[in-house]
Amino acid sequence: MKKTLVWLLVTSLIVLTVGAAGCSTKTPNETPNTGNPDNTPKLKLIAVGEATFAPFEYVDPQTEQVTGFDVDLIHAIAKASGFEVEYKNLAWNSLIPALLNKEADLVVSGMTITDERLLAVAFSDPYFASGQAWAVKEGSDIKTLDDLAGKTVAVQINTTGAFAAEELDGKFKDDGKPGLTIKSLTNAADVFNELKAGGCDAVISDLPVIQEYMKNNPDDKVIVPEPAFTVEYYGIAMRKADKEIHELINKGLAKVKADGTYDTIYEKYFGPKQ
Ligand code: ARG
Repeated sequence: MKKTLVWLLVTSLIVLTVGAAGCSTKTPNETPNTGNPDNTPKLKLIAVGEATFAPFEYVDPQTEQVTGFDVDLIHAIAKASGFEVEYKNLAWNSLIPALLNKEADLVVSGMTITDERLLAVAFSDPYFASGQAWAVKEGSDIKTLDDLAGKTVAVQINTTGAFAAEELDGKFKDDGKPGLTIKSLTNAADVFNELKAGGCDAVISDLPVIQEYMKNNPDDKVIVPEPAFTVEYYGIAMRKADKEIHELINKGLAKVKADGTYDTIYEKYFGPKQ
């Protein structure tokens, strides 16, 4: 019994000494911190978006990968600011909750900066100017926004398109006209399927997304009779408390705008700037 105890003490002493010697070989002097960021593990952030919103975020049918303007942009910002990013596809309604419960760090999803959202999250500087427009099938008797009174429109739930439809409904009723029947759908792409299937008379969505749909589905004969009727700006949403991340994003965004990376990404998805 005693012998084992002594033996244990001796071995642990040896382990301790070797261990200490091992440590001493890694003095800070021998591995000086040169300030090279590659020596320190990179910050990794999770970005999320609802990927049925081409050309901003969508699943590429060939590669089955999530791709798009927003995905390229956040990767470019990450590169410019020296962090890593992983982009994940989530349902639209769970994007801000994912941010708040720390499942994600960034929402990059063609998300419009609105006063209401600013109560819950912080936004980066604006990165894209957009607006709501309405679209119908060719040959529709709806020729102007006012002709929508009494009609059925499809929108994506909890989007600025949905808010615009609600406002329009209120305005029609105030004017003594019949209101709108609003179909609020889960995914951005659902609204176009609804129009195609004849489940609504019109859709309200972000103009660049409608235009992308028209480009990719010419046989569906969708038209946008009028220019966008709202002006809005997309921002990257973050938790309010993450001031450092906020700075990394804004600095990275400014950098990619200044060095031409932003324009390259823009042209990849929208063609040459007019
Ligand atoms: N810009 C609109 C909004 O912020 C729609 C965004 C929808 N984005 C998406 N990935 N489905 O409400």
